Amino acid sequence: MENVENNVVSMPRIGDQAPSFTAVTTQGNINFPADYSGSWVILFSHPADFTPVCTSEFMTFASMEEKFAKVNTKLVGLSVDGLYSHIAWLRTIHEKIEYKGMKNVEVKFPLIEDITMEVASKYGMIQPGESNTKAVRAVFFIDPKGVIRTIIYYPLSLGRNFDELYRVVVALQTADNFGVALPADWRPGDDVIVPPAGSCGVAKDRMGSKSDDMTCYDWFFCTKKLDQATVERELFKK
Ligand code: BEZ
Repeated sequence: MENVENNVVSMPRIGDQAPSFTAVTTQGNINFPADYSGSWVILFSHPADFTPVCTSEFMTFASMEEKFAKVNTKLVGLSVDGLYSHIAWLRTIHEKIEYKGMKNVEVKFPLIEDITMEVASKYGMIQPGESNTKAVRAVFFIDPKGVIRTIIYYPLSLGRNFDELYRVVVALQTADNFGVALPADWRPGDDVIVPPAGSCGVAKDRMGSKSDDMTCYDWFFCTKKLDQATVERELFKK
């Protein structure tokens, strides 16, 4: 959405419904996010085909596609290049590039052509202070109901941390499925945060209770155990 008079570009926010669009991709046409209803989706942009940082990212993402699929998460890429550039680049990656033990990497997820920048503009992926002609490295985590749940932006010069992208998916699903919040640097198996006490009585009980399961650092900051196997059983069952 663009407010031309004031030259203000508004960007989707966490909690918003993902803006819808139809697009041509390397896997055929898509109707977004409707085609992904029921799945988590990572919609991400990259600056340009045939560039080194992007190539390293695509090889990494494609190598992790099955890992994401196991937690019901699909990948959709975008750049403001055309379809034939996308196809040529993905063929080059598959046929020629060997990098960090990855070779013959096939990118099976859709890569959107966006030469008009329509989708990139809708999602705030063009950030003129960085570039007027290339999308920054944006990452939108969208839930099965089409709601944006996390947004991460990286600049052109910095490749993303894919372990972190996977951790975000697992953390969002854990927070939803177990009704908890996750502390700094949380990974499956670490203690999770229980919702804050909502009354003076609960606050008092929590500070007084001697539970093996719950640890309270103060009345508003309590954690409990959630073992890795329980998290994995829940996330991998879908
Ligand atoms: C890259 O992917 O290597 C790249 C793309 C645009 C600007 C700088 C680096």
